[in-house]
Amino acid sequence: MRDKTISVIGSGYVGVTTAAIAANAGYKVHLIDINPERIKVLKSGKSFFYEDGIDYLIKHAVDRGSLLPSTEYTGVKESDVIFSCVGTPDNPDGSSNLEYVFAAAETASGLLSKDAVYVQKSTVPVGTGEKVQKLLPKNAHYVSNPEFLREGTAVFDTLFFDRIVVGGSKPNSLEKVIEIYKTIEEHRDAIAKRAGIASVADEGQYIKTNLESAELIKVTANAFLALKISFANSIAKLADESGADVVDVMDAVGADKRIGRAFLNAGRGYGGGCFPKDVSGLIASASEHGVDMPIMVAATDVNESMPGYIASRAQEVLGGLSGKKVAVLGLAFKAGTSDARKSPGVKIANLLDKAGAEVFAYDPHANSEAKEELRSSVVISKSVLDAINGVEAVFVTTDWPEFNDLDFKKIASEMIGNLFFDAVNAFSPSHIQSAGLQYYGVGRGKND
Ligand code: NAD
Ligand code: UGA
Repeated sequence: MRDKTISVIGSGYVGVTTAAIAANAGYKVHLIDINPERIKVLKSGKSFFYEDGIDYLIKHAVDRGSLLPSTEYTGVKESDVIFSCVGTPDNPDGSSNLEYVFAAAETASGLLSKDAVYVQKSTVPVGTGEKVQKLLPKNAHYVSNPEFLREGTAVFDTLFFDRIVVGGSKPNSLEKVIEIYKTIEEHRDAIAKRAGIASVADEGQYIKTNLESAELIKVTANAFLALKISFANSIAKLADESGADVVDVMDAVGADKRIGRAFLNAGRGYGGGCFPKDVSGLIASASEHGVDMPIMVAATDVNESMPGYIASRAQEVLGGLSGKKVAVLGLAFKAGTSDARKSPGVKIANLLDKAGAEVFAYDPHANSEAKEELRSSVVISKSVLDAINGVEAVFVTTDWPEFNDLDFKKIASEMIGNLFFDAVNAFSPSHIQSAGLQYYGVGRGKND
């Protein structure tokens, strides 16, 4: 079974998902990480993060011995394909920190078998592959295979992908990587069923490019999505001043197939472990090539203004924040994940706290991951009802579906005030108003 063995280096959101799915599709997978805590949790058959369906897949594969979490790189020796999925965070100046990418390649380098293919799944600036190749043995096979999964739907996105991009100079190496995805495709309905996820019939595309194009495709896709969000937020600010409703505007604008409705949801802006650092990484990498990216600088500025925009509006409506009790519902950077990296909900809670409010925060899955990002005076509550008890204003900052099902009449009766700030534009204003609350969205009019 030597030709069915792969290694995945880095057991984060991407590495765990890739490894668990490949292991459920019949591969023997070595999942390697330098973080012993993460490996310990994985060995016990579960993930360290919340993600729909992933724990079923990890448990199934660990129990059968097809998923082998380890802090050692020894599994690389018997692997035909090695996926590098280590983190690429931002440096303080916004550029991409590639130290983990280089360290992983250096460690794997001495262990690669003759025809092994080293695959870069981490998001890296264009030109990185050329540098990584220099760390690998001469004639090593190197492929860029960027990842497009979203947190919250990671298993679904990996099984029912829109496209697989592979970039490199050796056609055989590209085919070797494609073969793994084709095997996953063959097993996808059974894996989805095991994970408790609904299947769809759509076929994904395979796109082969040169190395540099594959690298640039990834950051371009994220930058464009971030641009759409900041564009929607710029229009939202105008809607607030003019009496338009940005949700109606974007529904109609997005109905034009050339534009599309996706990623035009205005609100508190984008967060997470990817968009903010991928946009700043693109700006830095363009600058290294002597290219200015003012469009992405503007997108970043708009994004960074959104939490403050919402906090100032609350300050106006409440007549100051000092001493006011408020609740912030939503600390994950989006629904469906426990990830609180660069979370707008955390930013809003911290801004309100800094302005003197007494803040009670709650998230269904991200309370513990958000803890170290929150100012120490923010109280983390055990439930929505604990958080909203006796507050003057509620802020919903993550679009968790369970918040939609809340009994707002009960919530209104437990609050001492009646202000409801929908920072994700997830609610119907009339539904909230019918519970006796005053509704404020983002871009839905100043006096809704
Ligand atoms: P993460 O921060 O959750 O995990 C990265 C893991 O790599 C950590 O567990 C870390 O301990 C490990 N690591 C670091 N150096 C290592 C080394 N030398 N050897 C072995 N392990 C090492 O990262 P993530 O969110 O999974 O993202 C990984 C990459 O994929 C990033 O480049 C990211 O931009 C990209 N990406 C992420 C997502 C996502 O949704 N999170 C989606 C697409 C692409
Ligand atoms: C994003 C991309 O969607 C993935 O394709 C990509 O693989 C990934 O980044 C990555 O490279 O890491 P993710 O960050 O998991 O995925 O989540 P998104 O659904 O894209 O949301 C990102 C942020 O934008 C969230 O904070 C979300 O709340 C916000 N958002 C999204 C908006 O504010 N408005 C929208 O219309 C859509």
